[in-house]
Amino acid sequence: MPTLPILYFPNPLLRQKASPVEVFDAALHTLVDDLFETMYTAPGIGLAAVQVNVLKRVIVIDVSEDKNAPLCLINPELLEAHGEEKVEEGCLSVPSIYEPVTRAQSIKVRFRCRNGETVEQDFDGVLAICVQHEMDHLDGKLFVDYLSELKRSRIRKKMEKMRQQTL
Ligand code: NI
Repeated sequence: MPTLPILYFPNPLLRQKASPVEVFDAALHTLVDDLFETMYTAPGIGLAAVQVNVLKRVIVIDVSEDKNAPLCLINPELLEAHGEEKVEEGCLSVPSIYEPVTRAQSIKVRFRCRNGETVEQDFDGVLAICVQHEMDHLDGKLFVDYLSELKRSRIRKKMEKMRQQTL
């Protein structure tokens, strides 16, 4: 399973909107496997297909310490959101930046599994935060969008500087 190159903020390709998955075939399974491989290698706790420039509504998550609780959500839809919580977030597309973001504390989501099965599941804690963060990616939204314009432009400058240093 190869790892896929991750797009970095402020790359405009991260602003693309992903389309629903309609065919649950071998190509989709390969994509899901590659997303997990890319996320575990990075290492990170969540990755959306948009972050590797694949415009499909597919996200992978694993918030477990032992990296043994893989979760794949395809075509996720938010059904319910309860409470509010401010938690520090990071993103593989915005490396080394961590900022607090306010999200719902618990959510109910309907999604398809990699085999096409439809599931409704409740999430809370870190998992709820992570699912909301990854779902944003599918609509071209990043966690830095919740910060002030000043903070976001500072992060943009820092990212551009980091890119220049690695080129
Ligand atoms: Ni992210």
